[in-house]
Amino acid sequence: MKGVVLAGGLGTRLYPLTRITNKHLLPLYNKPMIFYPIRTLVRAGITDIMVVTGGHNAGDFLRLLGNGRDFGLTRLHYAYQEREGGIAEALGLTEDFVGSDRCVLILGDNIVEDDISEFVDRYARQPRGARILLKEMPERSHLMHLGVPAFENGRIVRIEEKPAEPKSPYAVTGIYMYDSDVFGIVRTLEPSRRGELEITDVNNEYIARRSMEYDVLPGFWGDAGESIDQYMAVMQYVAAHWSNGGSGEQP
Ligand code: G1P
Repeated sequence: MKGVVLAGGLGTRLYPLTRITNKHLLPLYNKPMIFYPIRTLVRAGITDIMVVTGGHNAGDFLRLLGNGRDFGLTRLHYAYQEREGGIAEALGLTEDFVGSDRCVLILGDNIVEDDISEFVDRYARQPRGARILLKEMPERSHLMHLGVPAFENGRIVRIEEKPAEPKSPYAVTGIYMYDSDVFGIVRTLEPSRRGELEITDVNNEYIARRSMEYDVLPGFWGDAGESIDQYMAVMQYVAAHWSNGGSGEQP
């Protein structure tokens, strides 16, 4: 199982903080944001990892992460996204790296409390297709900024991106598991209204093929890039739970 961490984009929702640096390099309490998703993969036993970044600060990721020693790794792989083409386009850049293997993709601004090993193991036993992780979100206002699934008889029948009328109380988190069919799917995508190749379109194709499964995260989940308020909310969570005043390090 390969791991992919996406750390590109302009981070415009956090302007002016991100005018001169990449969102994923911003601090979340005592560490740069990207440390947390890398740790999430390593904790799940995924040690073959590619970081996809872009823009003016790509070199800073090399200086910050190097060969991954902070995570007990001996090597990290990197890819460079030349434009703001979206999550699915960034994933497409990892095709040679992932090859015929499967991958767990995590967005570099997604912070999770849970050990995702159990979900990755379930995916490894799944004969084919994709698997996503959902999180129940009580506030509708929040869901309108995220991907939201619609269900029929316990199965996801569609995911709507940033819906005005969310069809369920679940957010699609930025943790996705794909087989190598994903690269063929990415090639068929057309840019959305925001000019990007949308990961939700990839997921909807797996749903149409009836090969999308899901799990629900029990613990904390936050998208630190969603808004400045979410950035602060995630920061507060990390400070309270993973600082010396809390349980110590990110587990
Ligand atoms: C992306 C996805 C969205 C998902 C979110 C999770 O949104 O498009 O479906 O819920 O990540 O962090 P974006 O951050 O690109 O707006």
